Amino acid sequence: MKMNRTMMGAAALFAALAGLGGYVAAAETTSAIYGKKLFGDPALGGPGNTKSCNSCHPSGKGLDNAWKNVKLGEKINNCIGAMKGKALPMDSKEMRSLVLYMQSLKPTSSGY
Ligand code: HEC
Repeated sequence: MKMNRTMMGAAALFAALAGLGGYVAAAETTSAIYGKKLFGDPALGGPGNTKSCNSCHPSGKGLDNAWKNVKLGEKINNCIGAMKGKALPMDSKEMRSLVLYMQSLKPTSSGY
């Protein structure tokens, strides 16, 4: 019946929207976007730290070759050390997101 179909369609749409809302509100997942957020967050440093990655690497400046670095995680932790922060475990959501963000800074062939 026509009415039923419409109602089912509406229900499906509602479910999809509800799912989307849930996704947006969900806790951070491993992503370059989360990495970028962390990149600007002084909380990666120790108590009293006011610098973020972005203070020394504004908008990722100087990091366009970081994606090539086979010791990227160690480099990131070195810099976190410079902020008096605690090294991130290599398999943490935070480290993986920072690495994804660094990789996203890889210049595109058209831009360079
Ligand atoms: C106090 C300033 C400072 C802060 C804060 C800082 N960095 Fe750095 N970072 C440097 C310097 C200096 C280097 C060394 C530059 C070089 O030798 O190429 C560097 C190098 C790096 C490299 C290696 C680049 C490459 O080409 O391999 C990465 C990756 C990096 N930083 C990421 C980060 C991340 C992520 C953060 C935040 C957690 C951060 N940095 C915070 C100063 C800083």
